[in-house]
Amino acid sequence: MNLTVIGTGYVGLVTGTCFAEMGNTVTCVDTDPAKVANLKQGQIPIFEPGLDVLVKNNVKEGRLRFTTSLAEAMIDSRVYFIAVGTPSNGDGSADLSQVLGVAGEIGQHLTEYGVVVDKSTVPVGTAEKVRAVIESELQKRGQNIAFDVVSNPEFLKEGAAIEDFMRPDRIIVGTESDRARDIMRQLYAPFNMNRDRTIYMGVRDAEMTKYAANAMLATRISFVNELSRLCEEVGADIDQVRRGIGSDRRIGMPFLYAGLGYGGSCFPKDVKALVHMFRQHGLPPQILAAVEAVNTGQRRRFIDGILRHYRNAVAGKTFAVWGLAFKPQTDDMREAPAIDIIGTLRRKGARFRVHDPVAMETAAAVLGGRGIEYQADAYEALRGADALLLLTEWHQFREPDFARMRRLLKRPVVFDGRNQYDPAQLRKLGFTYRCVGRA
Ligand SMILES: NC(=O)c1ccc[n+]([C@@H]2O[C@H](COP(=O)([O-])OP(=O)(O)OC[C@H]3O[C@@H](n4cnc5c(N)ncnc54)[C@H](O)[C@@H]3O)[C@@H](O)[C@H]2O)c1
Repeated sequence: MNLTVIGTGYVGLVTGTCFAEMGNTVTCVDTDPAKVANLKQGQIPIFEPGLDVLVKNNVKEGRLRFTTSLAEAMIDSRVYFIAVGTPSNGDGSADLSQVLGVAGEIGQHLTEYGVVVDKSTVPVGTAEKVRAVIESELQKRGQNIAFDVVSNPEFLKEGAAIEDFMRPDRIIVGTESDRARDIMRQLYAPFNMNRDRTIYMGVRDAEMTKYAANAMLATRISFVNELSRLCEEVGADIDQVRRGIGSDRRIGMPFLYAGLGYGGSCFPKDVKALVHMFRQHGLPPQILAAVEAVNTGQRRRFIDGILRHYRNAVAGKTFAVWGLAFKPQTDDMREAPAIDIIGTLRRKGARFRVHDPVAMETAAAVLGGRGIEYQADAYEALRGADALLLLTEWHQFREPDFARMRRLLKRPVVFDGRNQYDPAQLRKLGFTYRCVGRA
C-alpha cells in the first residue's frame, strides 16, 4: 500500500519506517526543512535504538522517502496518518492546532477516497473536528469526495519504539466505517501474523482508550510515590513493598517504581488533557488531580531533601549529575525531572557537571550552558563534585565502580532519585546515601 505519514517525530518516523519495513511505500512529511534534509541524508533526528538501520535500509530499497510537501506526498497515497504534536495549552487542554492544520491541508489536496488516520493523541471528539475541517476545505473547492477519519492511537514507548510497534500488545482501531476498517485490517495484517491483536471499536472509544491507558500508568507511578513517603516515615522500604505487591498477578510489576515521578512528552500532557476533559464536562477529576499533585510534589521532595542536607546553602556547591533524559534509552528531554531539579538548584547558586549517555545535545538545548559543564565521561563528571545526583536510571549507572566514585567526588554523597543502589552497601562503602522511600 502507499501511505503518507505526516509529522516525522518519535511517532511518525517510527510508524512510517515500520510500515515501510513491511513492504509498503511510505512518504513521511514534515514542515521542518532541516529535519527532512537530514533524513534524506540518512541522519536520524532522534535517538531510538534500531531506528537508524531500519530507516537507512528502507530508504535504500526505495520504500521510504521524506518531503516537506504534503501535496506531493498525497498524489499516490490513499491513507494519511496524522502524527504531529499535541502539546498542552495553558489551561491543560490539548493544543490541536497542528492536527487541524494538517486536516485543512489534506482537505486542500484530497482527490479521491482516502482514510485519514489520527495517530496523534487527541481528545474525544477530535476525529469529528478533523472531518469538519476537511469537509469545509472540500466545500471551498466545490468537491464532494468521500473519506473516513479513523482513530488509531499509538502506544509505543520511546526507547523501545521499534519493538513496541512491530510487536504491539494491541492495536486500537476506532472507526464506524466498514471500508476504512478493511483498509486498516490490511495495513496491520503483517503485525498480526501469529494472532490478531487489533481491537476494533468506535472512534470516541479509541480516542478515550489512549488517555485512559496513559492515565492508568501515571496513576500507578503516583500511587507508589505517595506510598514511598509513608515508607520513609514508618521505616519501611518501598522497593520491598513494590516486590510484595507486584508479585500479585492482579497488580503486576511494571510502573511501580518510586522515584522522581513521571515526565516525558506524554504522561504529563495527557493527564492534564484528561483532567481538562473532566472539568469541561462538569466532573471533578478526583483521582487524576491527586496523580498530578503527587507527581509535582515528588520532584519538589527530592530538591527539598538536597536543600535540607546543605541547610539551604547550595550556592557554590558543585553537583555531578548522572542522567538528564526523562528516562533511559531516549534523548527526549521533554518534562524531564532534570530540568526542574537542575533549574531550581542553579537559581540558588549551585553548579553542575553533567553526563547523559545520549541526551547531552538535547539537554544543552534546554538547559543552556550557564553553570553547567557537559562531560562526555560519566566518571569525569564526578571530579571535585560535592555530591552525585542520579536522575535517570541508565543501565551503565547500575553497577558503577564505587571506589573510583569515592576517589573522584570531593565528598562521598549520593542523592539517588531512582533507587538504583543498595543503601546498606553504599553506607558500608562510606557514602552518605539518600534515595526515595527507603528509610
Ligand atoms: N513520543 C511518544 O512516545 C508518543 C507515544 C504515543 C503517542 N504519542 C503522540 O503522538 C503525537 C506525536 O508525538 P511525537 O512525540 O512524535 O511528536 P514530535 O514533536 O516528536 O513530532 C511531531 C512532528 O510533527 C511535525 N509537524 C508539526 N506540524 C506539522 C505539519 N503541519 N505538517 C507536517 N509535520 C508537522 C514537527 O515538525 C515534528 O517533527 C503526539 O500527539 C503524542 O502525544 C507520542
